Amino acid sequence: MDINKLYKSKLKTAEEAVNYIKSNDRVVIAHAVGEPIYIVDKMVENYKAYKNVEIVQLVPMGHSLYAKEEMKEHFKLNAFFLGGNTRDAVYEGRGDFTPCFFYQIPTLFRSSLPVDVALVTVSPPDKDGFCSLGTSCDYTKPTAQAAKLTIAQVNKKMPRTLGDNFLHISDIDILVEHDEQIPELPNPKITDVEMKIGENCAKLINDGDTLQLGIGAIPDAVLKFLTNKKDLGIHSEMISDGVVDLYEKGVITCKKKTLHKNKMVVAFLMGTQKLYDFVHDNPIINMMDIEYVNNPIVIGQNDNMISINSALEVDLMGQVCAEAIGLKQFSGIGGQVDFVRGSAFSKGGKSIIAFPATARNGTISKIVPFLQKGSAVTTSRTDVDYIVTEYGIAHLKGETLRTRAKNLINIAAPQFREELIIEYENRFKEKFNN
Ligand code: COA
Repeated sequence: MDINKLYKSKLKTAEEAVNYIKSNDRVVIAHAVGEPIYIVDKMVENYKAYKNVEIVQLVPMGHSLYAKEEMKEHFKLNAFFLGGNTRDAVYEGRGDFTPCFFYQIPTLFRSSLPVDVALVTVSPPDKDGFCSLGTSCDYTKPTAQAAKLTIAQVNKKMPRTLGDNFLHISDIDILVEHDEQIPELPNPKITDVEMKIGENCAKLINDGDTLQLGIGAIPDAVLKFLTNKKDLGIHSEMISDGVVDLYEKGVITCKKKTLHKNKMVVAFLMGTQKLYDFVHDNPIINMMDIEYVNNPIVIGQNDNMISINSALEVDLMGQVCAEAIGLKQFSGIGGQVDFVRGSAFSKGGKSIIAFPATARNGTISKIVPFLQKGSAVTTSRTDVDYIVTEYGIAHLKGETLRTRAKNLINIAAPQFREELIIEYENRFKEKFNN
């Protein structure tokens, strides 16, 4: 096979490529910073050619112009996760949200949600014609494999990551060459409260443990308290810059892992250019699809698996809402439940849900008697294990409803404890006693 000839035969401009998208198609966009932003924007510019194109994506990191009010006849958002640019589309009724565990999304694309067009980003092909999907293997690779038509933006700035993360050019229908900066997720500013939460979480982590870290300031704060640990491992749907720092300090070695020893197993990457430079051609990074990385049975094969995620609200039974504020869908399920359950399968595993005890400048308690009306339970009370705030650690797994409520009140913000105690005393017909 003449790779050069094959490559050239598939090249088109973005304007030509988006003409292959038809009205009523289901278009799945690569996850997070794997989004081919140039092509997606060209698709939106071509809006007059379409009616009712369904746009499906998990974390959106591009401009999401298809979600604007004026595009509603042309595009219909069907989101697995919402961000700042897409939240209103669902809230205002011109878009939809589909609840799904992250690891099951590729199954949907092969069954009830068949994919007409996949839009992905790849690094330039190697001499044998293999392109790396770079920052996003997750559902992106299985989608490209399941789609009737795959359009790939070849971007020289996309790092070439290793693992099971390659598409051969013969499996891509259309290639569009366009280099652009991979979006960067700036390192979050970590507050004193988040530092305290990080310190509390770190108390549950031992040398040799394998970690999953969700998005945001809290995972980064946890990493800051792990500098004196040894031989930590990574099996995580995503990693960010904090993991690079700990690897460079010799804290993350992956030497004690019981699955994929000496490798960081990851499904997607999101951080700054420092992370993208680190992962480029780096054999310690083993990118794999989400069906594998987030499958709870696979996660559970890591002994001492510790998952750390966050939440918006937790009720006194330990029901965790991580995705909605009342009826308003805020984000999505992501991999939270995959890792809560996977950690439960792991010998020595623990799952941690960590968050500040209050929101909105201390005016709202995130530990509440009842979840807000219309809210969704992301992690059930039966799955939940540890809850951590700046006030301490509450262990819930295996505990009675009474003990759970007590443990949670003890880590709520002091100014909200009184009202929680009133609910405790009504519910359990006894005086609250620490
Ligand atoms: N009631 C009302 N508003 C609340 C609230 C509550 N109980 N808790 C938080 N908020 C508001 C905050 O004030 C903030 O508002 P702002 O954007 O106007 O400042 C907003 O909700 C976000 O809260 P914050 O605590 O800053 O969220 P975060 O960035 O730390 O993210 C989650 C927390 C739960 C939203 C995030 O982890 C998530 O989306 N998780 C999804 C599930 C998951 O964990 N998946 C695995 C990783 S993908």
